[in-house]
Amino acid sequence: MSLDTLSQFIEAIEKAGELARIREPVKARLELCEIADRVMKQPGGGKALLFENVILDNGAKSEYPVAINLFGSMRRMSMALGAENLDDVGARITQLLDLKVPEGLLGKLSMLPRLLEVGKFPPRIRGGKPACQEIVWKGDEIDLGRLPIMTCWPEDGGPYITLPMVISKDPKRGIRNVGMYRVQVLGPKTLAMHWQRHKVGAAHWREMAEKRERMPVVIAIGADPASVYSASAPLPPTIDEFLFAGFLRRSPVSLAKALTCDLEIPAESEIVIEGYIDPSEPLVVEGPFGDHTGFYSEADLYPQVHVTAVTMRRSPVYASTIVGRPPMEDYYLGHATERIFLPLLKLTVPEIVDYHMPAEGIFHNLVFVSIDKQYPGQAYKVMNAMWGQGLMSLAKVLIILDKNVDVRNVQEAWWVALNNIDPERDVRFSMGPVDVLDHSSRAFTYGSKMGIDATRKWPEEGFTRNWPKLIEMDEATKGRIDQMWAKLGLGPGDRSEQWQRSGGSGNDDAFNRAEE
Ligand SMILES: Cc1cc2nc3c(=O)[nH]c(=O)nc-3n(C[C@H](O)[C@H](O)[C@H](O)COP(=O)(O)O)c2cc1C
Repeated sequence: MSLDTLSQFIEAIEKAGELARIREPVKARLELCEIADRVMKQPGGGKALLFENVILDNGAKSEYPVAINLFGSMRRMSMALGAENLDDVGARITQLLDLKVPEGLLGKLSMLPRLLEVGKFPPRIRGGKPACQEIVWKGDEIDLGRLPIMTCWPEDGGPYITLPMVISKDPKRGIRNVGMYRVQVLGPKTLAMHWQRHKVGAAHWREMAEKRERMPVVIAIGADPASVYSASAPLPPTIDEFLFAGFLRRSPVSLAKALTCDLEIPAESEIVIEGYIDPSEPLVVEGPFGDHTGFYSEADLYPQVHVTAVTMRRSPVYASTIVGRPPMEDYYLGHATERIFLPLLKLTVPEIVDYHMPAEGIFHNLVFVSIDKQYPGQAYKVMNAMWGQGLMSLAKVLIILDKNVDVRNVQEAWWVALNNIDPERDVRFSMGPVDVLDHSSRAFTYGSKMGIDATRKWPEEGFTRNWPKLIEMDEATKGRIDQMWAKLGLGPGDRSEQWQRSGGSGNDDAFNRAEE
């Protein structure tokens, strides 16, 4: 059964024993962040938290509880998408993309359920009053200060909405976009919208600004978990995130009309902030903000949102997250994207076997890629292709390895990569767009990239020395020791278990084959 509301997601998390309710009074300013940060640093990502007694900046008790770290473990991230594990979602996409028409009538008929399934995904606009409009604030009733919006870190520019679905529409083609962009509270009815220049919402705004037209924008908070995740997914601008969410949850997302602007919103949202941006107004200062790099992002200029209505369920839960020094909850959201987008990446770069963005690389800083190398120079071909793909263009360091290196085992990937490279020969620098949050590049959003070819080198690539064999015990000896291991009383002796305990995925046998 798909999860249709945030409350259903929270209930499912509680049933799974992964929710902690906090009744102690906790301030939305700094205290909530400090508790959430400590929990997110626990092994596996810690529990999801429901703060039931949140103290607002004016000292009053919040009317609404705050949920945080809902997506912050592998299990909860999979639950959010209604899957056993994240690779299963990738497998569904692979199946969907594999649309070669099979031989014979029976084969063709077997495609029907798959094709019919696709037709079930588009979002549906519901009539009647949606749950997210049970309560409506308009005019002087609007006061964002009544919402338990967190100020996360001591030097943040103010309170921030951190887990939003920001909805806008492409003014030319009418295609909707939903992006997760932090939003700073500037006043009771004003916000600053931090969509970075490479993002789709920012592109919509540039087009509206060129036309000198007011841009309607909606910030929805808390909905079915697949929709919340989809806001963070780097989909091409032509794909509606709510269609993607429908595919993920195998059931369409219900939408409703916003009350004061021409946009649709998830009908099951907890809280919806409706508003507009006026391109004739000057930009406003946004930030600083303790960011997911683990450093403060400097203040910069972003568009101001004027709030025209706040609507909500009768008893809404305010959904939030924090970012900061990794690992944090956003690692799991990003990891879901990594797994789900692998088949899509393979469509254009078919030699890719797997890839992984470790938490300490905060997505764009470090990407390990394993490839099925079939010709000399292929590692460089893959680097160039990756730097040409959507937000992967922002990747700062790419490390390309052979197919059987388990790149999801970071220790294994580093170990093989560092052994395999002659730095002067195998490292290449390129230039390109750089993530807005990168504080080291020579210019804002522009700088260099490093590609490392850590594959085994071929004679055609000028390598004429012998490539060494990997050390491995023979099977007969391993078998005999397996038999006596338990009697020796030396603890776990399964080699793959050892990898797992030290942070790897336990797939070390796999890369032996690469060296055969
Ligand atoms: C918790 C979290 C916060 C984020 N904050 C921002 C942000 O403030 N600005 C931004 O441009 N992207 C932010 N992102 C990344 C975008 O959500 C992501 O790049 C997404 O693909 C953007 O959607 P779009 O491709 O439709 O533009 C954040 C992601 C997460 C998970």
